[in-house]
Amino acid sequence: MGVMRFRNVVAVAALAGFAFSSPAMAEPQVEVLHWWTSGGEAKAIKVLVDDFKAAGGAWTDMPVAGGGGDAARTALKARVLSGNPPTAFQMKGPSIQEWHEEGALTTGIDAVAKDNNWDGVLPASIANHMKCEGKYCAAPVNVHRIDWIWANPKVLAKAGVAMPTTWDEFNAAADKLKSMGVTPLAHGGQSWQDATVFEAVALGVGGNEFYRKAFVDLDPATLGGATMVKVFDQMRKLRGYVDPNFSGRDWNLATAMIMKGEAAFQIMGDWAKGEFSNAGLTAGVDYLCAPTPGAGYLYNVDSFAMFDVKGENKVTGQNLLAKLIMGKNFQKVFNLAKGSIPARTDVPLNAFDYCAQRSAYDMNVTSGNGGLLPSFAHGMAMRNAQAGAITDVVTKHFNSDMSSADAAKALAEGVKNSL
Ligand code: BGC
Repeated sequence: MGVMRFRNVVAVAALAGFAFSSPAMAEPQVEVLHWWTSGGEAKAIKVLVDDFKAAGGAWTDMPVAGGGGDAARTALKARVLSGNPPTAFQMKGPSIQEWHEEGALTTGIDAVAKDNNWDGVLPASIANHMKCEGKYCAAPVNVHRIDWIWANPKVLAKAGVAMPTTWDEFNAAADKLKSMGVTPLAHGGQSWQDATVFEAVALGVGGNEFYRKAFVDLDPATLGGATMVKVFDQMRKLRGYVDPNFSGRDWNLATAMIMKGEAAFQIMGDWAKGEFSNAGLTAGVDYLCAPTPGAGYLYNVDSFAMFDVKGENKVTGQNLLAKLIMGKNFQKVFNLAKGSIPARTDVPLNAFDYCAQRSAYDMNVTSGNGGLLPSFAHGMAMRNAQAGAITDVVTKHFNSDMSSADAAKALAEGVKNSL
């Protein structure tokens, strides 16, 4: 409801002699800090903004550009430290608990969650991430899968190569493409993108148990062991498949290289699909998707955490936001634009493409066989300090001639020092 309309309602109510309680009439307001600024991301968040405005709310948008959200998280810290938190922030996994421990979050939306049966429609693993000491303090919008390869089918056909199903096949295809003068791997040299590729490689080369031991249990022997050396060997191979201008490139520009046929493959989470969709391209025709070689599934749940803010309008705003986010139709429309799949388990997927359907199927299968694993590169597996320590080593290795053995050793040491 706009301010003018609100005033009119107040005036009419007063004339009619109505008594109204101010909480019920407070105009819902939110200020939302997020980093969804690429074409596909912006289209997706617009679904939420439009729904919020249509429900009578006032939305203040605070986008902080930068894929993966590093810059947005820095902005958030500054806001909280200065005593002026946003009403909601796009946050994930263990960070939600970290901010809760700082006393910065509110569980005010728990009543909305109860009224709308969130426990009944969310997988327990996702619901648990959203709770602060048993009460909801965040609302999930989706499940992104990280371990994907995206490809341009025309480029593959020209080189006579297929979507790879093993890392050896990937390397063989990439060597062939390279020999024909085509960039095999579209990549943006930013540390979070290096980490995104690295975790997909680690899952494929090492397998589910290796991934769990290394990135969930933070087991020192696994972090510094022989399998990790092999993971870095494959990273070194990939370094040879990127173009000379990869450094600093944004992820969506790397996706654009696939669209334009300037490169064959990109290894990136399925927000890349949001870019393809936003460009009007069709999965299976204009671009291909396949899980990166390996048996597991790396998940990343985007959610909005609610900060402890003062003022009835803001509290009402948080409740409205939470309710809309978990709406069944919202979860469909938003995720069609975002490239992810709904967090709710009861949203039909027939309007979604084969990549999304594959994602939902694999998520289901892996949740039963131990292969459903949290993405460390996207803040789902561990605390920020440890994720930062690992990412530093991965980026250093990718951008230098550091040996695989030294990198694995540095990984184990880096994590140990960050604990
Ligand atoms: C987020 C996605 C986002 C991507 C690129 C990830 O960490 O989960 O929602 O699209 O970063 O910005």
